[in-house]
Amino acid sequence: MTKGRIKDIANILKLGHIEFRTTDLKRAREFYVDLIGLHETARDDDRVYLRCSEDRQHHTFVLRQAETAGLGHIGFRVSSEEDLDRMKARFEELGLPVRWAGNEMLGQGRTLRVRDPLGFTIDYYATIDSVPWLVQHYHLHKGASPTRIDHVNVLTPDAQKGYDWYTQELGFGCAEYTESEPPEPRIWASWLFRKATVHDIAVMTGQGPAAHHVGFSLPEPLAIIRACDMLAGAGYADSLERGPARHGISNALFVYVRDPDGNRFELYTGDYLTGDTSAEPIRWSLNNPVRQTFWGAPPPRRWFEESMAVESFDGATNQPTEPPLLPPVPNYVLD
Ligand SMILES: [Fe+2]
Repeated sequence: MTKGRIKDIANILKLGHIEFRTTDLKRAREFYVDLIGLHETARDDDRVYLRCSEDRQHHTFVLRQAETAGLGHIGFRVSSEEDLDRMKARFEELGLPVRWAGNEMLGQGRTLRVRDPLGFTIDYYATIDSVPWLVQHYHLHKGASPTRIDHVNVLTPDAQKGYDWYTQELGFGCAEYTESEPPEPRIWASWLFRKATVHDIAVMTGQGPAAHHVGFSLPEPLAIIRACDMLAGAGYADSLERGPARHGISNALFVYVRDPDGNRFELYTGDYLTGDTSAEPIRWSLNNPVRQTFWGAPPPRRWFEESMAVESFDGATNQPTEPPLLPPVPNYVLD
């Protein structure tokens, strides 16, 4: 069997799906389908399987009934079944907990589950059922009409370690990063990609392992405004946590929303193409507030201080977390 780092023996294609835990599956389904505009592919006793209009896979966002809210797991799609076998051998070589996850997800093939060095439960799979492309089914578009799952944003005490894992072992490109100043510069956060946009995953410094948000891509800027109007009209004005505004990093227009469980997602549009791995990543000083907000109000305190619990490899929801190695960045927080 081919030996080497994951980046040399397997091809991670993109962020495949995110699973959110919800304490009320019916309420969560109504929120994400009827209001936000995700498309339902299937459901079973515990889960609702959703996708966006461009997503041609059975699911890219899954809601699962659970005792508490938070993030279940993160799924990445790889090129082939053989990739999974090689990855399993590599993870075992690295001493990481790894197993075949069984066939519990509808529409999804053989799935390799690993506890990564940051403490996150990550699923890798190559096979997933194809479903109709809904881009031109305009009559089915509603709400914010998300076009695709874009990224997940996670918190870990040592974001330098996270950057190293994703770039050196898994072969992710880095579009942008924030760094503390000398004499000991350390990466505070990085935006890492396999698909040719700014990121599939962002790894930020924070109490962790924890999840910050999942990002859905929208078709154009007015979709952000429509989403805000509809959420406010439906009584969710207080759920609009931050924005609309434009990021410095990624250049995207955005609004952050808390769903009825308190789970956080971002509606996001207008980032740029990457994919040229010879391009130098864009560096931002941690002291530069423009990185967070190119224009618009600074983030509220809760955006920095509240996160989503992540399930452990064994399915426990009270996974211990550790404090960040670098201090938080309080200077841009409104009191
Ligand atoms: Fe984001």
